[in-house]
Amino acid sequence: MNEHSAPYEFHLPGVLRVGVGTHTLIPEEALLLGRRVLVVTDANCARIPEVAATIASLREAADAVSVFDAIPGEPTTREVANGLVAFRAADAEVVVGLGGGAVLDTAKAIAIMDQHAGTIGDYAGRDRFTTGRRPLILAPTTAGTGSEATRHIAITESATNVKMLITDWRLLPDVAIVDPLLVAGSPRSVTASSGIDAITHGIEAYISRRHQPTADLFALDGIEQLNRGLQAAWQDGADISARAATAIGALHTGIAFSNSSVALIHGMSRPIGAYFHIPHGLANAMLLPTVTAWSLEGAPARYATVARALGLTDAGDIPGYLARLGDDMKVPRLRDVVPPERLMAVAEKMARDAIESGSPGNNPREASVDDVVRLYDACARA
Ligand SMILES: [Fe+2]
Repeated sequence: MNEHSAPYEFHLPGVLRVGVGTHTLIPEEALLLGRRVLVVTDANCARIPEVAATIASLREAADAVSVFDAIPGEPTTREVANGLVAFRAADAEVVVGLGGGAVLDTAKAIAIMDQHAGTIGDYAGRDRFTTGRRPLILAPTTAGTGSEATRHIAITESATNVKMLITDWRLLPDVAIVDPLLVAGSPRSVTASSGIDAITHGIEAYISRRHQPTADLFALDGIEQLNRGLQAAWQDGADISARAATAIGALHTGIAFSNSSVALIHGMSRPIGAYFHIPHGLANAMLLPTVTAWSLEGAPARYATVARALGLTDAGDIPGYLARLGDDMKVPRLRDVVPPERLMAVAEKMARDAIESGSPGNNPREASVDDVVRLYDACARA
């Protein structure tokens, strides 16, 4: 579809600072952007020693530091509105997001909504913002969403419980800081599901109909690094070289899908998250093997390249390999989390939501509503 003669664009955060100890650079990077700082985090992240030390260093160096940590789970429009109140009450100039995907998405939303009227829900969709955002630094504490390097925010409308995707290049931060020390405290279940989500980003970016040569480089490298580091990081969370491979891998696959796209798996996982309150990474991890098996015939040569990035020789080996990877890291099956009859009772509605989201349209094998219903059924039996 997107042959390499087709024009494309490629965007990155303004600066990447990557590697062990780079979290200590946050204060100096923040002060280059402003003297009054709002730190966006959550209560769990704030207990990570490196996060606490960063906030303490900021307090010493900046004119004023406020902390907004009231983000209880997947972010909603309410958290964004409250965070914006905190930003303005502090007369802040810079937003520093320190946390997982929910925290980073909230930080992005606060930085841009300070410059826009209305609520974040008014900007759902693509390229709806009219001007820029406040200075923004993002540092992830999980290796998964790649939010520090994507143009996306996933946010739930608190009044209606509808999950929205907001896409704009202005949501890329000025500085992304990826320090393996910040992800070293992730518990095993988060390491597994967010790591497989990150592999899904790389695979979907690479097989997407909107693939492009520059994003391809990041997708394949990210898949390789995640494949190399993920199980070792799951076995021993203190293995910093394994954590580094997952953190850099997730950064690279985030860059990849931000510039190309995700596809059918993300399209199908969002409704599961919305209807059954399943965390994003887990929903993707549970769908990945079965949906990949179905999609293979749409892009055999591209999947063959993905297979090599995973250390396999044949595209047909990918689904079984990914299923074993999930099993080895004790990722639950879909049927263990959602009773199949409950899933299938809303499968057609979820399938329509999935198709409407647009992501399945990027899949190399085209999926109808009936196909998606059958795939939910197959995932429920896997
Ligand atoms: Fe994802």
